[in-house]
Order: sequence, then structure tokens, then C-alpha cells
Amino acid sequence: MTVTVAPPTRLANPRLEVVGGHQLHGEIRVSGAKNSALVLMAACLLTQDTLRLRNVPPLTDITAMGEILAALGVRVTRSRDIVDLSGDHISQSAPPYELVNSLRASFFCIGPLLARMGMAQVPLPGGCQIGSRPVVEHVKGLKALGAQVSIEHGVVTAVVPGRSRRLTGGHIHLDCPSVGATETLMMAAVLADGETIIDNAALEPEVIDLANLLIAMGARIRGAGSPTIVIDGVSELHGADYAVIPDRIEAGTFLLAGAITRSILRVTPVIPDHLGAVLTKLEDVGCQLSHDGEGLTISARDIRGVDLRTMPFPGFPTDLQAPFMSLLATASGTSMVVETIFENRLQHVAELQRMGADIRMQGNTAYIEGVVRLSGAPVQGTDLRASAAMVLAGLAADGVTTVRGLEFLDRGYANMEGKLNAAGAQIRRLSSEASNADA
Ligand code: UD1
Repeated sequence: MTVTVAPPTRLANPRLEVVGGHQLHGEIRVSGAKNSALVLMAACLLTQDTLRLRNVPPLTDITAMGEILAALGVRVTRSRDIVDLSGDHISQSAPPYELVNSLRASFFCIGPLLARMGMAQVPLPGGCQIGSRPVVEHVKGLKALGAQVSIEHGVVTAVVPGRSRRLTGGHIHLDCPSVGATETLMMAAVLADGETIIDNAALEPEVIDLANLLIAMGARIRGAGSPTIVIDGVSELHGADYAVIPDRIEAGTFLLAGAITRSILRVTPVIPDHLGAVLTKLEDVGCQLSHDGEGLTISARDIRGVDLRTMPFPGFPTDLQAPFMSLLATASGTSMVVETIFENRLQHVAELQRMGADIRMQGNTAYIEGVVRLSGAPVQGTDLRASAAMVLAGLAADGVTTVRGLEFLDRGYANMEGKLNAAGAQIRRLSSEASNADA
């Protein structure tokens, strides 16, 4: 596997040093969607042909997924933003624990492995910094498709009984519109015998992206993007050449970078429908937005407080709650932010408070009184999006903010500091060695 970008997090004690107070200008380019690319990569297990994915972001999570697929027997080659995946000789139905343990998205392998091999053994993904992340719905759905599923010693073993080793279409009603469960079950059902209906399916754009890829591979799917997805199983899928959608969360983060620095900034490419609730909130706080067919230009001056509540798509995405809170910490007036999706996703509040933010917490709700200026401080990114929120806060703060927790940031943002610096930010990535040399 050719990896073009060396993961920068291998450096000892890596951190970003953000010098605040610089306005942004010009344009920032958005990479392909991490959350789409990870699941699309797993779909290669459904065919013997080569799957070519374009617009794949250079992220540590993508490297990890490539390693997991390679351990299953997939030939993975990666050059720039193109990844070729050839699953003609899948030799394993059980990805190794050491690899899977580092990446929750590896659980995506269970659906296609089961569909293709009639058997899959995948370690149960644990909780993570933001919450418990159950897979009850995934398991329930696989059982509805005829799999026998057992969980022992932290490993999920799923087997299709009978000689055909082929799953059977079924009717699944998800108790909650889980993105991961919807995607897992779509990949399991495409090769099943007969029709599968998934009710209360997730509506996220990444679900539609997966459906579009599977359709390009020969699957028969309708209704993706609506609460009811209907899949007519086919006997085999073929390869495809497919471009991943732009990352709506990265795009939202950069629009917020423009807003928090009170700048005029173009972010491209952006599909406005993917960010509807976020764009509405940006307008509510006083930003002007204009879409030119490909990119979106944000113009920000005075920012006022607003209330928001995270919801499944098309509601306000939990993944942009922390970055949006950084902006609200600098707004005039009061804001209220309610996190409804993950139980432990307000840890950035304590870090923002270290930067002088005036935030009071009650349960899953944060009450924010905007301050005129945040003040630079050493802070810790406690999860992927919280790390991005710290970088944004640093862009607007007085003085220098040192952001640790880059092992999270680099999972979801490709060269974040490089992109922001090209637009006028002043951010340096340091390791212990570098800082000694600098001293
Ligand atoms: C995906 C995204 C993640 C995003 C999240 C919510 C990927 C790789 N990750 O995660 O960035 O923050 O959607 O938009 O695409 N739930 C259950 N039972 C289940 C499954 C989920 O109760 O069996 C609950 C979860 O606890 C959570 C909610 O459903 O409260 C949403 O989870 P889910 O949509 O499954 O998130 P992921 O697919 O893990």
C-alpha cells in the first residue's frame, strides 16, 4: 500500500500553536468525506472486481481502514486521493483485533463480509470519548436477515446458516435512525436473497453516497435519503469507479473558521443541502452566505448568540456542535446548546472555559454568554471535533493557543493547519524535538 502522506501524529507530543487574531481570506478546499470514504472502502468486500474510489481524504483513519482490509486479503493501493481496492481473494473473515481496535469504523466490515463469505467475526467496537456507541441495531438487523449472531469475549460472530450461506431479505425497523446500522444493513442486504426493507433509516448524505456507490456496483436500492430504504438483493456485484462526496463536516468547520475570525472566506466544494441546518444557524447568528454553484462564501462581522440542538440529519449535526460552540463563545448575547445524540460530547466546554469562555453546564445543555475576546491558553482536544473547536477558538483568541490531542484531529482533518495557513492563519505544528530546536 503506497501511503503518500506520512501521518504527522507519530511525532512526540505533537501540538498546534495557533497565533490568534488573524483574519482569513481567499479560499479553502474541502477534502472527500471521511465518514463516507470509510464505509465505501468496506464495500469493496462485496465484489471480486476492483473498486476505485476517488476524492479519498489523506487521513490516519483511512490508512487504518486500508490496513484492516489488507489484512482480510484485499489488495489496497493508494495514490494521492485515489484508492484501488481489489477483493478477488478475501482470505479472512476475521480482521485482527490489534488493527480493528484502533478504528471504530472497522465494524463496517461485518455487513459485507457476512454477505460475501457467509461468516464474519469482528471485535465489538468499544465506546469512545463522546459516548457508549452501541451496535444493538446493527446486530438486530443482521439477525432479521437470517444471520446467527453471538457476542462472546468482546467479539461479534455472525454466521449465515444453511448451505447457500446467503442472507435472506427481511423487514427491519430501526429503533433509532443509526447511520452505522443503516449502512451496515444496506451492505448486508445487497447480496441477500429477496427484498429487504429498512424502516426508520438514517437520512444522512453519507447513506445516500453509499447507496449511489452500491447502485454503481450493480445493487438495486431505492429510497436512500428517505426513512424507508428498499433493497432487492442481487447475486453478485461488480467493480466501480466512484468519487466520494465532499466532507460536509470539514466544510462546516472552515465556514465556522471564517465566522469566528469575522472574515470573508470561500469554502469549496460545498453541497448546501448537506449543511442545511448549519447554514441556517450561521445566518441566524448574522453571517452572510452565498453559493456560486460550487463553493460557498461566508462573510462575517457581528455575531449574535443563538440556540441550537443536535439532531439526526437533516437536523443540526452533532459533529459540528463543538466547533459551533467556539463561535458562540465569541458572540454577543446568550446562546444555548443542547447535545442530544452523544452523552459525553460537551468535554470541550471545560477547555473553552480555560480560554475565558463564559459557559455554564447543566446536564447535556450548555448556556453560553459571549465574551468580547477569548484568551490563548494551552488546551486539550478531547475528541476529533472538540480538537477542531479548539483550533477555531485559537484563531479568534488573544495571543497563542496550544492545542494538544492531534491524534484525534488528524483522524478527521487532512492538513487542517496547512489549509488554514494558506488562507491567512498562523498555525505551527510542533513536536517536543521541534520546540526544543525552536527554544
Ligand atoms: C456516525 C458518524 C459520526 C456521527 C454520528 C451521528 C461515521 C463513521 N460516524 O456515527 O461521525 O457523529 O454518525 O451523526 O459515520 N445508537 C443506539 N443503538 C445503536 C446504534 C446507535 O442507540 O445500535 C445511538 C447512539 O448511541 C447515538 C445515536 O444512535 O446516540 C447515533 O449513533 P449512530 O448514528 O449509530 O452513529 P455512528 O454511525 O456510530
